[in-house]
Amino acid sequence: MAILKTAQLGHPILRQTAKPVPREEITTPAFQRFLDDMIETMREYDGVGLAAPQAHDSRQVAVIECHGNRRYPDQPDIPLTILINPTVLAASEEQQEGWEGCLSVEGLRGRVPRAKTVRVWAQDRVGAERVIEAEGFLAVVIQHELDHLNGRVFLDRMRDLTTLTHLKEFERFWLRADASSSET
Ligand code: NI
Repeated sequence: MAILKTAQLGHPILRQTAKPVPREEITTPAFQRFLDDMIETMREYDGVGLAAPQAHDSRQVAVIECHGNRRYPDQPDIPLTILINPTVLAASEEQQEGWEGCLSVEGLRGRVPRAKTVRVWAQDRVGAERVIEAEGFLAVVIQHELDHLNGRVFLDRMRDLTTLTHLKEFERFWLRADASSSET
């Protein structure tokens, strides 16, 4: 497995719409290796999610996982989830707002409004179709990753840029005030 280099804000690939992965490609050794590299990269950088464009690969793939992450001690665990060609089937009008960061927007956090619940269709690593019902933290992470596949980052979703903060100041002034945060 390999740790992939992450694209940083300003790299055009982060603003492109990712391409679908053909069903027959999913089970190839090369694609399976790419999935393992994505997982390894997410874990290496303590992310709770990673989308392929962040690894300089414009395909509709995202990985999500949270297991007692030291940077998000208050967040619930999320089992390793692989989303290939994901599509939002439904999103609640009711919203939640929490702190988000991004491995492609290093060192910054900001408050982002998101749908409270989402229903998402995706294929898993063997190409099987799944429908995921998500709420709360998982719903936030899924929406953040799906945005990456459509050329968007969390900054585009912020309603109020005055909440934007450097990580050091976030930990100093905001972490204890609001435990809800995620970096993906
Ligand atoms: Ni991100």
